[in-house]
Amino acid sequence: MTNSSSPNLELFLQQQNIPEQLKELLMQVAKSCDSISQAVNRGALDNILGSAGSGNIQGETQQKLDILSNDILLDDNVSSGLLAGMASEEMDTIYPIPNDMPKGKYLLLFDPLDGSSNIDVNVSIGTIFSILETTQSDSVTEQDFLKPGNMQVAAGYALYGPQTILTLTTGSGVHMFTLDPNNRQFILTRSNVLIPEDTKEFAINMSNLRHWDTPVKRYIDECIAGKEGPRNKDFNMRWIASMVADVHRVLTRGGIFMYPWDKRDPNKPGKLRLLYEANPMSFLVEQAGGLSINGPESISTIQPNHLHERVSVILGSKNEVALVQEYHLQK
Ligand code: AHG
Ligand code: MN
Ligand code: MN
Repeated sequence: MTNSSSPNLELFLQQQNIPEQLKELLMQVAKSCDSISQAVNRGALDNILGSAGSGNIQGETQQKLDILSNDILLDDNVSSGLLAGMASEEMDTIYPIPNDMPKGKYLLLFDPLDGSSNIDVNVSIGTIFSILETTQSDSVTEQDFLKPGNMQVAAGYALYGPQTILTLTTGSGVHMFTLDPNNRQFILTRSNVLIPEDTKEFAINMSNLRHWDTPVKRYIDECIAGKEGPRNKDFNMRWIASMVADVHRVLTRGGIFMYPWDKRDPNKPGKLRLLYEANPMSFLVEQAGGLSINGPESISTIQPNHLHERVSVILGSKNEVALVQEYHLQK
């Protein structure tokens, strides 16, 4: 049953104490996510599943939907007059708004389609976005995008699952909106989300166990030891392999999500991208009372050095993440 008293995204934003232009931008991003959601829903009917036959700058094979989603976000936002530039996991360099277009003061960064390995198997995927502000509207450079996570003015994701859900923060809590497919409105269905401080659920790709560093191995070993081990409780494991879906579960019922640095490629700080994945998700998790670290330190204060920088990510229920941090600091 639809709750008719719940506001849609537009009404909700009207009540927020944020600049009008930021409200407009968030409406525009939500519209792009709706379009991506419609493409995702059609899948093979529109011949948009499978590989695009190309690779991105990070050496990953691009799926057709990675490129389509990227194009939707670019096309929808280029002429809004709200942005100085965009950056994406799927583009080699930043995309400054061309000089013949109106410009604004915001920077939009995105992972257009997160969970690419799940596209063809009809498992939840999503779009992750981060919004920064700049004073360089006319001549934006990569440097303007290299801001720590605590400088974000808004962040969120759209999850394309059994329902399409938009989750958002502008620094005043975390709010979730469900897309009503009948009228294409995002309706507020959960506000002021809080992550339980304790959990019995962890998410990590266990196939990498032999490559982990000691603190991560110690933490997971202790979880697996269950009631008989030092934690005195049994844990459960979930790994969807779409960060957006795993983080949505953590925000919804608690848990700890980890994609840590490992020894496979020691010079690679992690798999996930700081600007398009780790920063926006960390903003959401912290706004929901959780923690997000790279091991020893908080992700939100890391100064990025490169656009496509990667980082180790451990986030979720406060007490569990704090324990993993303690293990890293004891190392
Ligand atoms: P993307 O599809 O944007 O490249 O991101 C995939 C990421 C993330 O969503 C997920 O948590 C992780 O990669 C899954 O990695 P494994 O395949 O190693 O489990
Ligand atoms: Mn991703
Ligand atoms: Mn992606």
